[in-house]
Amino acid sequence: MSAPTAAEEQNQTSEIPFSAPTQAAHAETQPGTEAEVQAVQSPIQAEGDIAIDDSNSAYSDDLSTYTASLSSSVLNFPTENGRRYHAFREGTYVFPNDESEQDRMDLHHEMIMKACGGKLHLAPLTNPGRILDIGTGTGIWCIEMGDTYPDAEVIGNDFSPVQPNMVPRNVKFEVDDVEAPWTHQTKFDYIHSRFMAGSIADWPKLVRTCYDNLNPGGIVEFVDGDFLIYSEDGSTKDSWWEKWNIDIARSARMGGRIMRPGPQLEDWKEVGAFNLVQLREGLEGFSLALFTRILGWSPEEVQVLLSKVRKDMENRNMHAQNDIYVVWGRRPSV
Ligand SMILES: C[S@@+](CC[C@H](N)C(=O)[O-])C[C@H]1O[C@@H](n2cnc3c(N)ncnc32)[C@H](O)[C@@H]1O
Repeated sequence: MSAPTAAEEQNQTSEIPFSAPTQAAHAETQPGTEAEVQAVQSPIQAEGDIAIDDSNSAYSDDLSTYTASLSSSVLNFPTENGRRYHAFREGTYVFPNDESEQDRMDLHHEMIMKACGGKLHLAPLTNPGRILDIGTGTGIWCIEMGDTYPDAEVIGNDFSPVQPNMVPRNVKFEVDDVEAPWTHQTKFDYIHSRFMAGSIADWPKLVRTCYDNLNPGGIVEFVDGDFLIYSEDGSTKDSWWEKWNIDIARSARMGGRIMRPGPQLEDWKEVGAFNLVQLREGLEGFSLALFTRILGWSPEEVQVLLSKVRKDMENRNMHAQNDIYVVWGRRPSV
């Protein structure tokens, strides 16, 4: 049986009650000091209100105040093993926030877009007023949503204030911890969470919080990946890639975080190529903190393993794949 196309996958995502089962898409990788810096419950925001401008394409640097107004402790990013990490809620999230990781996240965004048929969301949205993207990363999804829905107000939050200043006027970013109580005064019409597996300790609580912060009829959409690769033909069995994969998932679990086809289709080859590049770029950033802090490996030992994993990734005889899940649910209208 051939793997479903992106469009077929999309059709399989349907309106479902909260916490209903999920539908997977497949992305094959082709060869080729808890120093809580700010005892804040509410998000750290840009100074002043962000006007929503009718001129859709206008980009604003109003948000230059965003970075300037942030507490320096939130911007005082610690480095470890040569990589830079978030300062707010320091130590909570184990991937870096440096340029290289930001480049990887942008590439990953393109990969997901391709896998989802060029769509920013699979849930059926009709003129959403307020949109929230939790754990926004570089903010690229918010920026594209701001352009797509010029009448909407789009908010992205993250531990790391690494998002650009030049953004559409209807987009703003906040430094926040999505696992802390939310203090938004106004509810949302659409909440988006993408690739937060490995970040969240209590998923049921997060889903509940999303529900509580939706307007009646509002939608929450989760897009996430199963970090564990597999191969239909067993070609990845006992590889370094598989070993790394098992250890990184094990260390994330030990750290209190949960992680967890279509080679014939042309679409998937391109998706796979993007996936391979973003994975190779991200490999070191994904691994250093977990392997050194939690598994007790030396940075050198980690690098030796990673070089072997990279070789596996380039091995055309290894047909590794992993799954992406998109699930959305609507809060009842009444
Ligand atoms: C794997 S990245 C995904 C970024 C983005 N959602 C995307 O799909 O491109 C996870 C992001 O979540 C952020 N993050 C992790 N835990 C968080 C939390 N509790 N509150 C806010 N942001 C968090 C990280 O700083 C990182 O930018």
